[in-house]
Amino acid sequence: MLIRRSTDIIPSEITPRALFEDRRAFLRDAGLFAAGLAVTGLGARAVQAQGKPFAGARKSPLSVAEAATPFKDVTTYNNFYEFGTGKDDPAERAGTLKPRPWTISVEGECAKPKRWDIDELMKLAAVEERIYRLRCVEGWSMVIPWNGFPLSELVKRAEPNSKAKYVEFVTLSDEKQMPGVRLPVLDWPYVEGLRMDEAMHPLALLTFGLYGDLLPNQNGAPVRIVVPWKYGFKSAKSIVRIRFTETEPKTAWNKAIPSEYGFYSNVNPQVDHPRWSQAKERRIGEFGKRATLMFNGYGEQVASLYAGMDLKKYY
Ligand code: MTE
Repeated sequence: MLIRRSTDIIPSEITPRALFEDRRAFLRDAGLFAAGLAVTGLGARAVQAQGKPFAGARKSPLSVAEAATPFKDVTTYNNFYEFGTGKDDPAERAGTLKPRPWTISVEGECAKPKRWDIDELMKLAAVEERIYRLRCVEGWSMVIPWNGFPLSELVKRAEPNSKAKYVEFVTLSDEKQMPGVRLPVLDWPYVEGLRMDEAMHPLALLTFGLYGDLLPNQNGAPVRIVVPWKYGFKSAKSIVRIRFTETEPKTAWNKAIPSEYGFYSNVNPQVDHPRWSQAKERRIGEFGKRATLMFNGYGEQVASLYAGMDLKKYY
């Protein structure tokens, strides 16, 4: 349905496909798609063979006390459009991504720009285990034990100047490693952004692993962000550039469908997506639906960032 000729694809077709995948996953979870369970991602297997570098990571008090989604679901039910638009495409196709060697360039409005080697960056601060809820804009959610340290640790090393009002995150775009970028599904590279105070918030996590291991390719190896009070698409994967800017970054989904995906994208059950309600979500592995919580349940920590803002206007 989606992949006809590349020139035929328009962004508004993406979500219906995503909803279709969601329904298929529901059938799978209900045991009706037993054959599909045999599919295990190459990336997941590769990372399991590497040992568990973060197995002893300090458990963060910022974790939620909810059952974690099984590793298998976390690593085989993914959105990573650089590898295709199907939920199982990333696990099946991300084996071509090479997470080493890897550098991440920190630049823009700051006194100390620097190109970090990934292994040097990982040693910048103590890597913790943070169990966060992840709520996808499509209406499903997971609970994932991430391994990382606060994004603020990296931001403050760069010494942003007074013009630095926003932070832009840019994903690798290399068609040799990422077959999906050959199709104009989004205006590549994938770009996301945060306001500076959001990026400095202690919950915003620079993430290198999950379940004690390095990130599997399909989950954004070797480094991504996780911003748990926002819809999952704000959590950009496989980042190669972080840039401090004076103006609001032009983000990939906002450019593609501005009426549906805004810059802020805070989880908000009171503001519907133009094509569906956001009041409920399906936790992967559960039957039925549960209520979606304001700011994905992190309101106590983050609501003050948006005091006085009309969150219907700034969706
Ligand atoms: N980052 C990039 N570069 N490309 C993507 O397609 N998808 C986003 C986000 N980050 C995406 C991305 C979406 S829609 C979600 S829900 C989360 O990644 C999913 O993260 P997970 O696969 O680790 O659960």
